[in-house]
Amino acid sequence: MDETVFDVAVIGLGYIGLPTAASFAAKGKKVAGVDVKQATVDAVNRGEVPFVEPDMGVVVSGAVSLGNLVAMTTVPAADAFIIAVPTPLAEGNGADLSYLLSAARAVAPVLRGGELVILESTSPPGTTQRLGAYLLELRPDLSLDALPGRNQVHVVHSPERVLPGRIMIEMVTNDRVIGGLTEEGALLAKRLYEVICQGEILLTDATTAEMTKLVENTFRDVNIAFANELSMICDKLGIDVWKLIELANHHPRVNVLRPGPGVGGHCIAVDPWFIVDAVPELATLTRTAREVNDAKPHHVVAQTVAALEARPGASIAVLGLAFKANIDDVRESPSVTVVEELLRQIPDARLLLVDPNVEEVPAPLAALGISRLHPLDEALAGSDLVLLLVDHDEFLSPDPRALAGKTIIDTRGIWTQPKQEEATRGLATVGATASA
Ligand SMILES: NC(=O)c1ccc[n+]([C@@H]2O[C@H](COP(=O)([O-])OP(=O)(O)OC[C@H]3O[C@@H](n4cnc5c(N)ncnc54)[C@H](O)[C@@H]3O)[C@@H](O)[C@H]2O)c1
Repeated sequence: MDETVFDVAVIGLGYIGLPTAASFAAKGKKVAGVDVKQATVDAVNRGEVPFVEPDMGVVVSGAVSLGNLVAMTTVPAADAFIIAVPTPLAEGNGADLSYLLSAARAVAPVLRGGELVILESTSPPGTTQRLGAYLLELRPDLSLDALPGRNQVHVVHSPERVLPGRIMIEMVTNDRVIGGLTEEGALLAKRLYEVICQGEILLTDATTAEMTKLVENTFRDVNIAFANELSMICDKLGIDVWKLIELANHHPRVNVLRPGPGVGGHCIAVDPWFIVDAVPELATLTRTAREVNDAKPHHVVAQTVAALEARPGASIAVLGLAFKANIDDVRESPSVTVVEELLRQIPDARLLLVDPNVEEVPAPLAALGISRLHPLDEALAGSDLVLLLVDHDEFLSPDPRALAGKTIIDTRGIWTQPKQEEATRGLATVGATASA
């Protein structure tokens, strides 16, 4: 039997778990990376990163070749366990904690007492307490507090705030919040994270740490919802929302964000629901913001359908499928919702989808019969209406001649907002009709 006790075992080797494991291993810790997917474990043991993330490849391959990072499918004994498994939205807008509970079942048998169990997954308030209670249910011989005659485990929450594309930098430089079920647990976790973290480490209780992460994303969601609501109000009132926002932002204490076609991704579009689910009777603004942002793609569809009323069988160039600029991630993307809805409402229209960062037609759209993506110039040339959904760099300065005579719906304001007037003056002269 293998008696190795690792310094750290990281459960879940995805966008968060793998860089965490590699960062500790790069600092000389003996790290076990655990994942249920054999293919992920095999890739990591070859020193490979099974997804795209800048700068991670060299750290992972270095840690593996030094022997500091080993991947496996079962949880070994370790001094600290870091759980970084998915916590997606469940039916009814709560969190699906099945992955977390499954990870807990894998950790419980190897606990000897004295270990840290750190939850990094984004979690609804109370989840860390629930994790602690579940571990005790599985291991009644242990304790979460210092009790005579019982071995103690220290359960803490430390949410991750890194931005995909900058994970290896932000994992080191970001400030980190740590919330413990006990103060001692939080202090022990602080000592551990100091190995990889150069940012400030702030200690609190577990539920406040859970809420901190949710509040950060909810703050963004609420502010974007205000901008999106304004854009819909302005359409109704016949006001240029971009000009309006620019004027309002001249106030020294006002900073209205830019509207868009909705909110996507697996964080901002998801995490506020965890607050709503926890306290539905009080989280009215949070819920409304979610509803406003979820309604925006349907508003964009209504605008598009209205613009095409007189032209049955028209072609639409749809620019951008990712959930935000300059990434390839289409999870929860409002663009996908817009295209799905257009296919349903105007089945005779021809949709020419363009996204320079996305390689394959997203599965929900492939299921509806979209067979391929188009190069930008081909889609513009073949379209009557141009629907801009994402402000990818490649879309910022189109050839004005390619847009001549076409109807334009610019949901990101990159061709129509006042600050871009100089750059896009040509567009006005080719007779494009723009709306926000
Ligand atoms: N990706 C981000 O940008 C980001 C940022 C902040 C927080 N988070 C949060 O971090 C958590 C993890 O997100 P992610 O993006 O790394 O997810 P991911 O899907 O990239 O990776 C999760 C990994 O966990 C593995 N897994 C699932 N169940 C398991 C189990 N029982 N035992 C072992 N492995 C298991 C999966 O196979 C997968 O490889 C989520 O709660 C997410 O909300 C993510």
